[in-house]
Amino acid sequence: MVIERLTIKNYRNYAFAEIYPSKGVNLFIGDNAQGKTNLLESVRLASVGRSSRTPRWQELIKWGEKAASVNVRVRKDVGADEVTVRLGDAKSVAVNGFPVSRIGELMGVVKTVLFTPDELGIVKNGPGERRRFADIALCQLSRAYFYALTRYNKILSQRNRLLKSDPADDALEVWDLQLAREGAGVIKSRKGFVRRINALAEQIHSEIAESEKLEVRYDGIDGESKEEIERNFYALLSAGRKRDKQFCVTHYGPQRDDIAISANGVDLRTYGSQGQQRSAALSLKLAEMELLKQESGEYPVLLLDDVLSELDHKRQSELIKKIGAYQTIITCTHLPDDVRARIGKVTEFEVVNGSVKAGETK
Ligand SMILES: Nc1ncnc2c1ncn2[C@@H]1O[C@H](COP(=O)(O)OP(=O)(O)OP(=O)(O)O)[C@@H](O)[C@H]1O
Ligand SMILES: [Mg+2]
Repeated sequence: MVIERLTIKNYRNYAFAEIYPSKGVNLFIGDNAQGKTNLLESVRLASVGRSSRTPRWQELIKWGEKAASVNVRVRKDVGADEVTVRLGDAKSVAVNGFPVSRIGELMGVVKTVLFTPDELGIVKNGPGERRRFADIALCQLSRAYFYALTRYNKILSQRNRLLKSDPADDALEVWDLQLAREGAGVIKSRKGFVRRINALAEQIHSEIAESEKLEVRYDGIDGESKEEIERNFYALLSAGRKRDKQFCVTHYGPQRDDIAISANGVDLRTYGSQGQQRSAALSLKLAEMELLKQESGEYPVLLLDDVLSELDHKRQSELIKKIGAYQTIITCTHLPDDVRARIGKVTEFEVVNGSVKAGETK
């Protein structure tokens, strides 16, 4: 999949920009605070329906303006697709010119993998970021997953609200049955994702850190089949009602699960060195690219926000080796000559104060 055109209007510090990236490596270069991350954020908005930096889409509208829009056109192996996100009084989405009533309908149309310095911390940071990693990839692969997760979260917040009123057990029972049923589907999908990521990441990691065997495992409610997970989840909910009521929060379920990441049997979340954690993060991201390719038949677009400068020579080289295979959009403040030479052909754009100047392909 290749982004052919990106058009943004009144988005963050841009009044208007239209960009035609090349099929290969695209470099957006500029000083700090010029609008590089804003560009990647706009692509991600069209890809997964939300900003990578804020849950409040109102912040994306250029100051002093009432409405913004992002339009992304992608070319696929067969055909092309176009996503438009409009932000005004509300957020609305159109796919190939047709308005869609549910945001989930844009999932998977523009597939992206985003890698930022924040995500270099995916191994050491809290479990929420690792769950998000799985969820965003799964949503791009399956709208059914997106809708299941949305339903689950809705039931969860209703149950949590109910807990505040010290409900009787049989009032909770109704919610617990629903929560267990919907949650089991979410967990089953995530387990499948983690199993596939594990096989891919182990292989990739053996090239990045030769002596390390990486293992990625779902750390959550037990069970293989959906029914088994549902039974175990329901049993935990029933047994934990007293504590849940005491703290007014649901202590078990997909919202508490984690992804365990270890190297040679050592848990990298707690015991990994900074270098080990970063290598594992890189392996996970590259594995995500491969998984999306395997599952959907096409590579997504890789978005690298200022991440090259954060990696050491060896990890940079491993990343550069891979990006020849897909369209990549890189932002940075400067690119050292040796790194540029290792990448090879690059199409360069200069970002200055909310405007983009197309450079040449060298
Ligand atoms: N809604 C908005 N309206 C106008 N300007 C905004 C809005 N939101 C953010 N900005 C501005 O956009 C500017 C550029 O932000 P961006 O994060 O894209 O910079 P960057 O080029 O990635 O910089 P860095 O190299 O520091 O990461 C910031 O100075 C910010 O003040
Ligand atoms: Mg930035």
